[in-house]
Amino acid sequence: MDRNATKEKSYLIDSLSQGYLPEPEELITLLEGGIDEYLFQKANEMTLERKGKKVDIRAILEFSNYCRCRCTYCGLSAENPNVNRYRLSEEDIVKTTLEAAQAGYRTIVLQSGEDLFYTEEKICKIVRKIKAQSDISITLSIGERPYQELSAMRKAGADRFLLKHETSDEDFYKEIHKGDLLKDRVDTQKNLKSLGYETGGGFMIGIPGQTLQMIAGDLLLIREIGCEMAGIGPFISHEDTPLRGQKSGDPLLTRRTVAIARLLLPDANLPATTSLGVIDSSQLDLIFKNGANVIMRKVTPWSERTKYEIYPTNFGEEKDIKTARTELEKYIESLDRIPV
Ligand code: 5AD
Repeated sequence: MDRNATKEKSYLIDSLSQGYLPEPEELITLLEGGIDEYLFQKANEMTLERKGKKVDIRAILEFSNYCRCRCTYCGLSAENPNVNRYRLSEEDIVKTTLEAAQAGYRTIVLQSGEDLFYTEEKICKIVRKIKAQSDISITLSIGERPYQELSAMRKAGADRFLLKHETSDEDFYKEIHKGDLLKDRVDTQKNLKSLGYETGGGFMIGIPGQTLQMIAGDLLLIREIGCEMAGIGPFISHEDTPLRGQKSGDPLLTRRTVAIARLLLPDANLPATTSLGVIDSSQLDLIFKNGANVIMRKVTPWSERTKYEIYPTNFGEEKDIKTARTELEKYIESLDRIPV
């Protein structure tokens, strides 16, 4: 790369660090690479300034793998007949969450496919029961729901909500979400914000058909919505989906994107996504120096865990919640970060 181009890119990175809202074309120049070392350094400085060395460890409980959606990238698609479907009972969801709280978790993500079996009433009951017995923060990740339902769940005590937009390109959204509309998704995210949820968005890197232009749009969208969290992870192809056999998202491009997200949203919580670790565990280590400050650990009961396969996952060996958490704390410490 010539010196002028390097100078322009480093000037852009400095401007982003100071709150400049870039044009998509400018972000594309950073996504193309050529200045990674400086980008990563600035993202790391911003992370240390805003978050210190702390890495938040959060539990995730996958309570149902039923899904009404037919997303082309997802192993849990309603169109995949090979999934062994399960639903956890309300008692088991509450019990597992309390176990996680006892093991030291301060936040739990209750995640499922878009499963309307869990009505507003059921979700509210679960949230209230958990809150009556523990002060753990509850993040819901259950897909799109109408305003009224989200409002009731918030009143019941849900603190946060994760709903990734997956792609900011309207046509591409329709293609990969089989006819659903980006507008519905973004409207739901805006509803979440207005209801006072800490709102999580995010998207995938490297889903076939995606361009750098789209990623630039994704980054600007999470900034526009004002996401308090953003999960950005590489695509991994699942054999039982229309995208079988396609290559995985690029870990380096993922790290670049997370670093830019840190500069655009200095205070956001940015997880090191599980999919990055599945592709390459050494890339997962690096992402904590590129802007990430959160990691999630599954607490899903082992009887069901391997049935929740959005993308091919290395489940490792069976461990109890407490042991798995202690190991994760040691891992975070080995990266010179402080688990919290
Ligand atoms: N590869 C990587 N990530 C995926 N997700 C869904 N399918 C895949 C895949 N094939 C991500 C989406 C979703 C989250 C639960 O998992 O971003 O929001």
